[in-house]
Amino acid sequence: MLLQRLPWHASELAQRPEHAMEFPDEIHKEIVDWIECCDVVVDEEVVAEDVAGMSCLADLAARVRIELVTGSGVARVAPPTEADFDDTFLRRYYLAFGVLLGDPLGNYGRLYEVKDRGGDYTKSAIPVSQTRAATSLHTDSSALDVLPDLVGLICIRPALKGGSSRIACAIRAYQKLQRSDPQGLSLLEQPHLRDIVTPGADHSQRMNNQFPVFSKHSERGFICRYMRFWIEKGYEKAEVPVPDGLTDALDSLDGCLEEEDSVANFRLERGEMLWVDNCTTLHDRTEYEDDANAPRLLLRQWVKYTG
Ligand SMILES: [Fe+2]
Repeated sequence: MLLQRLPWHASELAQRPEHAMEFPDEIHKEIVDWIECCDVVVDEEVVAEDVAGMSCLADLAARVRIELVTGSGVARVAPPTEADFDDTFLRRYYLAFGVLLGDPLGNYGRLYEVKDRGGDYTKSAIPVSQTRAATSLHTDSSALDVLPDLVGLICIRPALKGGSSRIACAIRAYQKLQRSDPQGLSLLEQPHLRDIVTPGADHSQRMNNQFPVFSKHSERGFICRYMRFWIEKGYEKAEVPVPDGLTDALDSLDGCLEEEDSVANFRLERGEMLWVDNCTTLHDRTEYEDDANAPRLLLRQWVKYTG
């Protein structure tokens, strides 16, 4: 699948109706019927045949997929309009949606809970998704051999304060760097170390875990894989000096990503879904504060394209 799409600014994305979809009411009955017919499912065992009869949900997934593959690379789906949806409904809806989009990955469990577990990713090697810190713009997965095509989020409970989503177009940043800092860009097209979050990695595993920030794949097309913190930690933990010019090149990239009209900001409401193409779109969230009785909870899916 060769991805070719135009880059976007935040103001252009906001004016693109194709990326913001309503929840078709007919889907409600399809999900309720599934729950009534199968009151318990194992998330990892749900396959396309189990959700094949949900034609309205399949239509919505097809529209989302078109926008992800050939449109902006970003799709938001508004919350269900029926007032009586509960957490079970949202989990089933989201699970079925991931299966209809492609192959959900089970690396952290299919419906991975993004919530504050009290850790600090700057002090211990844990995913930022387990903290309440701002993450900085990034793509998901720091492991060489794990590259989700799509990252999805559904909001079960928003934070008391903060926790807004921020997304930016990697292709636009790449094209800006071509003009403003071609030397820095060429450094970002070379492989660089990434920290390994999985405990127990030895030196050779660390040295092997390197890949470029920007690359082009013969089938997948443009690929951006970026999280600055894991690059800097990767060099530090492998005890390898940061290459000359890399810090400046990362500063250039961060400058492009954060420049005016680059970042789209929004807050996911309960029941709202966000899907992004993980190779052309970076995501982030702002720091947040929880209500101790109802802490922020999002569910994340990683999905590989099929076909
Ligand atoms: Fe992420």
